[in-house]
Amino acid sequence: MANLVITIDGPAASGKSTVARLLAERLGASFLDTGAMYRAVTLAAIEAGVDMGDEEKLLGVLETSEFQFAVKEGKMAVSIDGVDVTERIRGPEVTAKARHIASAAKLREKLVRMQRRFAAGEEKIVTEGRDQGTVAFSDADVKFYLTADAGERARRRRAELRTKGGGEPRPSDGLGESLEQIQKAIEERDKSDEDRAVGPLRPADDAIIIDTTDLGIEEVVEKVLRRVKEKCLKRNQK
Ligand code: C5P
Repeated sequence: MANLVITIDGPAASGKSTVARLLAERLGASFLDTGAMYRAVTLAAIEAGVDMGDEEKLLGVLETSEFQFAVKEGKMAVSIDGVDVTERIRGPEVTAKARHIASAAKLREKLVRMQRRFAAGEEKIVTEGRDQGTVAFSDADVKFYLTADAGERARRRRAELRTKGGGEPRPSDGLGESLEQIQKAIEERDKSDEDRAVGPLRPADDAIIIDTTDLGIEEVVEKVLRRVKEKCLKRNQK
């Protein structure tokens, strides 16, 4: 088990990936974006033409494909059977269909096991997702839950899409969507993440909750870093 485990959970576009990545950089820790795992299995299932409601078939996809996750240039690089899919797992179809993988209990169990195995090989780790503090690492050293109001998260997502697309609207990447449509999609994803029976999105009882609506990324990272230092200091004094 790693010496230091920090979990960051929260809804879509709450800033958790960026914060987790920057925090890991500052702490010299490794970083795990668990959403990339759910996305990778979703893409593999779409490509295999599997019925998204058939849990056994979805499990078969996870068992028969080879998934590789590695951090490259601060981003989670993903490949399936040797093919780099880092960009493709961010597409709108994968985003919309990931809920099928996320609500399949046996798949979640397997993915959580993979996450723990990954962490076990690291000295320090910052891991982000929906259930990292509640299920995957319920005994983590420090847990955070980042949130922000849905309108602000939609604006952030639109800015991110624009940066990625170089400002050129392409309907296939969600850039053709209005701010209202982006917000609606985010709220639907929140609801599906909160309502599922397994690993639902919710703060752990001992999580530090940070509302990032009026904060810049750097301010959030500073806040988080301060809390980590306080907690670790207390832990070392015990
Ligand atoms: O974080 P990201 O948007 O990349 O996650 C994609 C989807 O994967 C989420 O909407 C959620 O349904 C699922 N997920 C999950 N548990 C995690 C991480 C992601 O269910 N730990």
